[in-house]
Amino acid sequence: PSSPSPNPQGDNNQTPRIPASHSPSIRKKGVNDFDFGKTLGEGSYSTVVSAIDRTSRREYAIKILEKKHIIKEKKVKYVNIEKNTLNKMNHPGIVRLYYTFQDQNSLYFVLDHAKNGELLTFIKKLGSFDLICTRFYAAQIVSAIEYMHSQGVIHRDLKPENILLDENMHIKVTDFGTAKMLESTEDGEDDRANSFVGTAEYVSPELLKEKSACKSSDFWALGCIIYQLIAGRPPFKGSNEYMTFQRIVNLEYTFPEGFPPVAKDLVQKLLVLNPSERLGSGGKVGIAKLKKHPFFEGTDWDNIWNTPAPRLL
Ligand code: ADE
Repeated sequence: PSSPSPNPQGDNNQTPRIPASHSPSIRKKGVNDFDFGKTLGEGSYSTVVSAIDRTSRREYAIKILEKKHIIKEKKVKYVNIEKNTLNKMNHPGIVRLYYTFQDQNSLYFVLDHAKNGELLTFIKKLGSFDLICTRFYAAQIVSAIEYMHSQGVIHRDLKPENILLDENMHIKVTDFGTAKMLESTEDGEDDRANSFVGTAEYVSPELLKEKSACKSSDFWALGCIIYQLIAGRPPFKGSNEYMTFQRIVNLEYTFPEGFPPVAKDLVQKLLVLNPSERLGSGGKVGIAKLKKHPFFEGTDWDNIWNTPAPRLL
């Protein structure tokens, strides 16, 4: 027997409620929800500022981009890439994007605040890392790359400035403004991403010669970073960008005396001109091979994000 409906619109109690816009946990955040602190970093298109959520007291790093400048410099596409790639990633080794909002003049990306700043600062401060520390950081970078690639994202600008360190001295990869999202093909190893050129010293030869990057290009950068952690300087460094590029395409680099042989063997297998012959390339099998290299002996891959960082000295 149908009784008169108490609900003239005919919806039942299961109708989802539109959240009240004054509900602080759901309402979109804005500039006024944060207390801004000191500047953490400045790039050509953005400034990263420390900020505290007034409600939760949680600390974040907010990347601020000036709209006028982004449009004038034709970087709208890259800003969108950064937002879209960060939005799909959820991994301890990658900076998390919590909120985005905008006001009249600027775009705001609310990110993890990595308390210990850039890996580059530590390389400069210490000169170089020992084998134990290099292995730990290299393993964390490999784990983060493995995850990005599994999500179809090529970073394309991995370098010690873009590898941040959190309060536990674990890494957080940042700066996805020049990343490439591959179309969702099943493990597209031959996917080529076009045109962008990253930072001179870490750019892969295929990008310089064929103007195309692939997942393997991130492993070239890994080789450069591992070399730099041990040697204290990147492998390819000319007196200017052009000279640096010349050295890269000719694989012109040498190891300093005392470079540990096991690390030398790994770097030689990463700094390979042909991307498909580079250690790490070839999808899941390739990454598994990289992880099995003797350089990583003793690495607890399954617990790498719960392993205490070795003391740097
Ligand atoms: N510098 C640039 N981005 C940063 C971040 N997310 N955390 C700390 N320092 C940074």
